[in-house]
This record gives sequence, C-alpha cells and structure tokens, in this order.
Amino acid sequence: MIDRRTLLRAGGGLGLAVAGAGLWRAHDQGLLWSGEEPALAAWQDWNDRRYIGPLSLVSAGLLASSPHNTQPWRFAVGRFGVDVFEVPERQLGAMDPFGRERLAGLGAAVHNMALASTGLKRAARVKLLPDPAAPHHVARILLGPENSGPASHALLSVIGRRHTHRGAWIGGRIAPARQAALLAFPRPDDIQILLFDAGSAQGKRFAALTTEATAAIAGDVAMMEASHRWFRHEKSEADRFADGLTMRTSGVSPLLATLGSLLPAPSAMAEGQYWLDATRDTALPTASMFGLIVTPDPQDRRSAMLAGSAWQRLHLNATALGLVAQPLNQLPEMIDREAQLGLRARFSRLADALLPDPALRPTFAFRLGFADPALPALRRPVSAVLGPPARMAFEVAQWRVAGGSF
Ligand SMILES: Cc1cc2nc3c(=O)[nH]c(=O)nc-3n(C[C@H](O)[C@H](O)[C@H](O)COP(=O)(O)O)c2cc1C
Repeated sequence: MIDRRTLLRAGGGLGLAVAGAGLWRAHDQGLLWSGEEPALAAWQDWNDRRYIGPLSLVSAGLLASSPHNTQPWRFAVGRFGVDVFEVPERQLGAMDPFGRERLAGLGAAVHNMALASTGLKRAARVKLLPDPAAPHHVARILLGPENSGPASHALLSVIGRRHTHRGAWIGGRIAPARQAALLAFPRPDDIQILLFDAGSAQGKRFAALTTEATAAIAGDVAMMEASHRWFRHEKSEADRFADGLTMRTSGVSPLLATLGSLLPAPSAMAEGQYWLDATRDTALPTASMFGLIVTPDPQDRRSAMLAGSAWQRLHLNATALGLVAQPLNQLPEMIDREAQLGLRARFSRLADALLPDPALRPTFAFRLGFADPALPALRRPVSAVLGPPARMAFEVAQWRVAGGSF
C-alpha cells in the first residue's frame, strides 16, 4: 500500500515537473524577460532613420499594411531609384485567390515609399506596373536630383506609429471635420471611399454582411487553412519569419495573449471560430464608423494597387488624427471566393445594398474609431527584402536572347 508520505512526495515531484514544463514553455515563448524583439526592429530602424538615401524608401515601404502581414514584396535599389517586385509565393491561397489583396499590400508599400521620398528632398515619380513584359515588377520609383523635391511630408513620423488595432474600442462619433480630414488626400477618380456611421442603416447593414461573410470564411476549410499558415503561434517562428499574425496583435488583452501563448497552437478551424466571435461581438459593436474602398474593376491590377495605396494613406491619416483603424475584408474576400469556385455571386449581390452605384465594387472594407494605440506587428528588416534591380534582370535576359549561349 502507498503511504501518505510517498503520495505527497510523488505529488510534489509531479508539481515540480509541471511547473518546470510551464517555465520551459514560458521561456520558449519569450515571456520570462522583456528584452529585444528582433522581429520588431524594423519599426525602430525607420523611427531612428537608420537608412539614408534610396534605402530609406525601402525602410518605409516594408512597414506598410499587407494582407495577413504576408509582406509580399522585394525591393531593389537601382540606377533610377527603387524597384518594387511582387513575390507571388507570399500568398494567401483561397483567402485571396486572384492576388487582389497581395497587390493592395504592394500599393500600400509604394504609398509609404512615395511619402519617404520627400525625406530625401528628391522629386519622385511613381510608375505602377512599368513593364508589361515583367508583371511582377509592380512599381518603379524614379528619384530626381538632390534638392528637386518637396519638403518632408508631415506623415513621415506617422509611418512608424500606424498599427492595425483588432481589439475592443470605446465607441463615440467621429466629427464631420475629422471625417473630412481623413479623406483629404489626392486619389484617382476610379478609387472612391465611402464612410458609414456605425449606427446608421448602412452601418448596420455593413455589420450584418461582415458577420455573415466571416461565418462563411470560418466554415470554409480551404480558406481557414490558408489563413492559418500565416499565424505564428510559436515565438521561435515569429523570430525566424518576422511576418504573419500573432496572438499579441490579435486584439485580446495582454493577459489573455500571454496565457494563450502558453497553450498549444489552436487549429485552423478553432481560429476561425475565435475570429467570428471577435468580429461579431467586439470589432463590429465597438466601431465608430465603417467604410469601403470601391472601384469599377477590383481585379484590375493597377486598381488593386491604388486601392491599397488609398488604404495606407487613410490609415496614416487616421493615426495622425488620433483614431484607430482595422481592415475588415471578409466581404470582398467572399466575393472573390464565390467567383473562384464559380458559385452564385451571393455576396456580390448583397454588397449592392451598400453601394451608391452598382458599377462600383467593394475592394477594401474597414472600421474606424477610438482606442489606445495598437501594438506593432512583425516585420522583416531591410536586409531581408532586398534583391537585384529590374534593370539588371532585363539586361541579363537581353544578353541571353542575343548570345544564346547558356
Ligand atoms: C489587402 C489587405 C487586407 C487586409 N485584411 C485584413 C482583415 O480583414 N482583418 C484584419 O484584421 N486585418 C487586415 N489587414 C491588415 C493586415 O493584417 C496588417 O496590415 C498586417 O498584419 C500588418 O500589421 P500592421 O498593419 O499593424 O502593420 C489587411 C491588410 C491589407 C493590405
């Protein structure tokens, strides 16, 4: 028979083992000290203006918003300025079947870079999709001579403070003057921005449709698995890849994020359920306003980039005005998913109720409101996103054709 002392000793041993395993896990997840976060250093690099000249454009570009923080870019500093390339492998699969959101992220990066060019005092000219023969070369930012450009833009200091906020907000109305200031930036006629008060009939419709679209995605195994691939639950992965989504920026409280990070990674479908609950019960009810970026042809590559550029600027303006923002793109994502699967275009038709003109289609959806600032998301630094310039690739290709020797 086991006596009481043996039982206590065994229990104590088990307790120590459990505590040890817990400590080990906390250590692995980076919870035992709050030291340097290498995957966040890119924010400090920009805030400290660590990079000068054309590289400073890269330092700003890589801080842009991108779908699921996929950072689908590569940059190159060449003779003419800076080239931006799409990296199609950094993709979201069924969640973004046509790469429309990927291009929006690239447009967002180009917007930051154009702003950053004003810090060089060199006039910048942006060419989107400059070479039809090289579709992944999505932009070239041509830099003029020294002192040819305008004064530093007021938003330069905001680039390093813009963060997506996924948590609970405090509500309240955004005054008309602030709304006007949010939208006060140049954009092409075919990119329009619609804003709805959360309490208005359109606002309620937006919330209902976004909930319905979220439920549809949360139940779609292919979409949730594609999304899940970009969730970095383990700190070792977050440090290594410096991209994707994390618990820290998911909108839960710091305590819940800490506790959650000690548990094993949730499954893709559990993540979908959490996301549906958070969208329906937190994101939508605590927002002040909702909005849509609309354009006649969301699949047009140039329009997709310009829509992302408009989002980046809107979010920078919101940050400068003391507001917080979060994209809520479930509706446009479901419109693409239905098109990919050849299904009846149900979400596309439901979206008509939000639009003043059915010829304009939604390509980006978001919420705006009030809350304490959000935390920064992971980023790959300048050194990880540089590649050879487009001109070099072009010359090599020419040489191959001419020489035909290898
Ligand atoms: C095209 C596009 C779609 C996005 N969709 C969503 C979304 O539906 N929900 C969300 O919370 N964030 C969305 N985001 C925001 C990104 O997840 C975010 O920019 C990224 O994780 C980096 O974080 P940061 O914006 O705080 O730097 C989207 C961003 C882009 C460019």
